[in-house]
Amino acid sequence: MSDAAQQLAGSTATGDNKPFAAQLSNVYLSILALFCFKLFVKISLNLLTYFYIVRGNRKEAARISAEFYDYAQQRGSWTDRSPLHDAASQGRLLALRTLIVQGHDVNSVTIDQVTPLHEACLGDHAPCARALVDAGADVNASTVDGATPLWNACAVGSVACTEVLLENGARAQSLPHQPSPIHEATSKGHFGCMEVLLTWGTDVDMDIPHLGTPLYTACVCQELECARKLLREGANVQKGKSLDSPLHAAAEKDCTAMVKLLLDFGADINARDGECRRPVEVAPPSSLTEGFLLLYEAMPRLLSQLCRQCIRTCVGQDRLHLLCHLPLPSRIRSFLQYQ
Ligand SMILES: *[C@@H]1O[C@H](CO)[C@@H](O)[C@H](O)[C@H]1NC(C)=O
Repeated sequence: MSDAAQQLAGSTATGDNKPFAAQLSNVYLSILALFCFKLFVKISLNLLTYFYIVRGNRKEAARISAEFYDYAQQRGSWTDRSPLHDAASQGRLLALRTLIVQGHDVNSVTIDQVTPLHEACLGDHAPCARALVDAGADVNASTVDGATPLWNACAVGSVACTEVLLENGARAQSLPHQPSPIHEATSKGHFGCMEVLLTWGTDVDMDIPHLGTPLYTACVCQELECARKLLREGANVQKGKSLDSPLHAAAEKDCTAMVKLLLDFGADINARDGECRRPVEVAPPSSLTEGFLLLYEAMPRLLSQLCRQCIRTCVGQDRLHLLCHLPLPSRIRSFLQYQ
């Protein structure tokens, strides 16, 4: 019984092999035919798309164009990376405009809720970002990680994209559960983005429980210019992360220039952190910073410095930008603005 079955199987196998071997000679012809067919289909679809655009049927054009670009339309409101995502991330403005005209949804999202605008900002492609915003892209869109296009622009240091977004009504300050653009820009030393954010009204002392203030972030990441800008804009020099002051962070990093800057702006050298330590106690032993702090403690403060801090405190953070309009000799004005 089993022998018969084996014989039968053997005979069918040899029987199948013969026509297959015969087909082998035609395989190149088949591939060529298939290729020509696919090319024909693609060309006809493309022609159809243009036909529909001319006739003004954009929805149908988008559907056909989607087929043309071989991306699968998913059920529901999201699609995986659309041609718009690709064009935006590569900064291909012309392709992007064409796709928008063809009626592709500028707010289509990937499974991670990434929009084409997110991609344009991550690639520092401001013209693409502008084209998307003009076509109605949501400037406040948020990915599953809470990242907004503005956060992406700040992460890569794209000043132009940051401006495009803020000019078009993007939220300058993140919601509590979202990553914060100003902290991101500060931590990476993207001075330009930070400046634009402050101009558009981001709170200079914005406090995030696990990160602290932007000034504290600048001290941890040793971004001196960012720290200087924040302090000039009136950042509270004492405010860090819970009890840790910015001076503690700078001392711990042995960043003498930062320590000096903070002290110039009136940082309290006797502030205590969560473990009741003073800045000089968190500085690495026998480091330059420790020496500097010990020396500073022993020296009397300059009267001019004390006067400056007193005046700035009286003026108040909200009115610091008006200092330049005070009818004072320009040298005193510059001194008051730390310039
Ligand atoms: C973005 O959010 C801000 C702040 O909540 C709001 O004022 C603005 O209208 C929003 N923009 C859009 C386009 O939804």
